[in-house]
Amino acid sequence: MKLHLVTALAISTLSLTAAAQDFPNKPITFVVPFAAGGPTDTVARQLAESMRKHLNNATIVIDNAAGAGGTIGANKVARATPDGHTLLVWHIGMAATPALYRKLPYKPLDDFEYLGIINDVPMTLVGKPQLPANTYRDFENYIRANQGKLNLGHAGLGSASHICGLMWQYAVKLDKSLTTVAYRGTAPAMNDLIAGTIDVMCDQTTNTTQQIEAGRIKAFAVTTAKPLSDHPLLKYYPSLQEMGLKDFDLTIWHGLYAPKGTPAPVVKKLNDALRAALQDPEFIQKQRALGAIVPSPRDRRITPEGHKAFVTSEIAKLKAVVDAAGQYAD
Ligand code: MLT
Repeated sequence: MKLHLVTALAISTLSLTAAAQDFPNKPITFVVPFAAGGPTDTVARQLAESMRKHLNNATIVIDNAAGAGGTIGANKVARATPDGHTLLVWHIGMAATPALYRKLPYKPLDDFEYLGIINDVPMTLVGKPQLPANTYRDFENYIRANQGKLNLGHAGLGSASHICGLMWQYAVKLDKSLTTVAYRGTAPAMNDLIAGTIDVMCDQTTNTTQQIEAGRIKAFAVTTAKPLSDHPLLKYYPSLQEMGLKDFDLTIWHGLYAPKGTPAPVVKKLNDALRAALQDPEFIQKQRALGAIVPSPRDRRITPEGHKAFVTSEIAKLKAVVDAAGQYAD
């Protein structure tokens, strides 16, 4: 009996080592749980370009499995074969959706291997070009004067744009004064904002910076506690705290996940490749240009344990935000 156990353990150790040595042996898929061309898609594509260099130049394909605030794509990865070839790139929604969706089809802390945090991304409060306001103060007054007449686009319940919109309306005591319109991502929502079909959005700098620069949309404030003084364009916008919203401080983040049960040596290979990408000057520069911050090599969140501990604390923090707003997906 004992001998069988030892033999079985030896075989499984051998096959784990073989799986890692061989990995990757086919194209890797990054599942992006939002529409193509949006902020999650952008970070996934930039990361893929850099990570593949550290994975024997493997092909990395992007699968935009959008819907239900990101939970459809997350569920797809939770159910995928745990061999490291199907990964999830997702943001703060991993931590926000457990509070919003009381019946999730997967368990955020049990059904994934945590591979590390990719970036931190500030958000911007933006409006359609036709809005009469040009400053944050005028913007807030305009929304106040037009309650019930304007709409806010977001990428589904639990998306970053949804959480940010909730937090801002709650902070300025304008709860439910904007009609919310859900999209499969903020790429299609941005098209409608530019066209003037929707009025307002709170979206990641990685999706708004180029549009603000081109004058296609108006920006009113950033959601970080302090203004983004290092960014050549975003430094011109005040933080919501400066505008009187005490304690308002929202920076979202993205992380990389594999299905639970992915062999430990494969998890290590993926984490090594992620950490190498986070030190790639080209990746860092591309992210910076869009207002995002790549974590330093000393940031504990880039380790699997640190990433999981961080998401655990974010789940508790965001539950308080969602409960205060009292809005749920079911
Ligand atoms: C969001 O608000 O969650 C995002 O902008 C998602 C996306 O479209 O990538």
